[in-house]
Amino acid sequence: DARVPPSPAPEAERLAVGDLFQPFSPAYQENPARNFYAEAHARAPVAYSRAFFAYLVTSHAEVMQVLRDPGLFSSARLLEPVVPFTPELLGRLQKGTFPLPPGLFNNDPPSHTRARLLFSKAFTPASVAAMEPQIRGFATELAAELASGPDELELMRDFTFKLPMRVIAALVGVPYEDMPQLKAWQDDWFKLYDPALDMEAKLVAADGFVAYTRYYAELIAQRRAKPADDLISALLRAREGEDAFTTEEMISHLVVLLFAGYETSASLMGSLLFALLEQPELWRRVGEDAALLQTATEETLRMHCSVQMEPRHATRATAVGGVEIPAGATVMTFFGAANYDPRVFPDPLRFDLTRPNPARHLGFGWGIHSCLGASLARLEVRVGMQALRAALPDLRLAEGARRSYLPSMFFRTPAAVPAVRG
Ligand code: HEM
Repeated sequence: DARVPPSPAPEAERLAVGDLFQPFSPAYQENPARNFYAEAHARAPVAYSRAFFAYLVTSHAEVMQVLRDPGLFSSARLLEPVVPFTPELLGRLQKGTFPLPPGLFNNDPPSHTRARLLFSKAFTPASVAAMEPQIRGFATELAAELASGPDELELMRDFTFKLPMRVIAALVGVPYEDMPQLKAWQDDWFKLYDPALDMEAKLVAADGFVAYTRYYAELIAQRRAKPADDLISALLRAREGEDAFTTEEMISHLVVLLFAGYETSASLMGSLLFALLEQPELWRRVGEDAALLQTATEETLRMHCSVQMEPRHATRATAVGGVEIPAGATVMTFFGAANYDPRVFPDPLRFDLTRPNPARHLGFGWGIHSCLGASLARLEVRVGMQALRAALPDLRLAEGARRSYLPSMFFRTPAAVPAVRG
């Protein structure tokens, strides 16, 4: 990178911009790009949040600097709670697989390198491509149900969550009828990290998490005894010399994969549906034009990537964008903001299908942790949209429907996509 290191914004400005990071405020939820990212790019691309005790890295070049150096910006503490678990909560959690051993997200080299290599043997481009007919079958069936159902639809509930849920269940090898329970346990797991939740509720959630890890332990034991044509069996078979995943590592992968491979895809499809239906002309055209659909998908990944931010931790004192960062500090790395950096994407607030460089977005991350499921996600979005477009050519947004997103620091998930079958 031949760029001259930028001179950092003055401290007062870094703090003022950091104070604008209010992920649970209505303005932020509605439009983090307008209400935070634009200010950060203009005033302090590396800011400091006093509320979250964290450095906020938002510019494309500086986000890349962080992602390029996983030894310096560690992911190992990704699953650690901000507020440490109490001994009572820990005691409950330890009845299951807790803490989850390093998998992919929460891991650094060389352990990450080894895990990613083993994982890649089980989850190959060929295995993803082979899923296309099955995904098309699911999507066509779901779309046909909508075509013959009520006129008023809510596409998050009726389509975008259902499709990836079916796909991930089939991929991993989880019985589809168990998915609602797994989703409830996964929500329990997230509740453990919610600083606003009281201890009573957290203890209940801990029991859910324990049940979740035991469920997977049982499923893994079944597949060890009798392999099937699914990812669990493929992960159990994956070898590098004598090396293979342990049961605990498998549990860690599966717990994370369910979320990583399901809500993210649903969220992207929801944002893409808004983009396509807000301009009815576009909905008409993507029916015949797969390249246009792909461009719209990439531009949606730029503007509304499902994972907006991931934290890293500095393993030693360093500097980013000229700002000194002490050892141990939390560095919030904003994929979502890098995607609005006007130095890389001119006129970033514009949904523009003619950008020369749409693929430079960081919607799937970048570097050693870049999304392993990106090709699967792109496949299910393409096939899903095509099936929906074919079954519901006159689909339109409900009168007065506006984009709204669920409150979250990390994720960008549409609350609902109200539509009319037409
Ligand atoms: C990693 C986004 C779908 C599996 C990531 C990362 C991002 C991301 C931003 C990087 C995280 C980091 O650097 O800490 C997305 C989006 C998706 C999607 C936006 C859908 C639109 C999927 C699917 C799967 C998947 C369908 C699997 C079936 C993974 C895994 C990693 C990952 C295993 C961790 C890789 C590693 O740490 O080496 N994803 N993802 N993702 N994603 Fe995805």
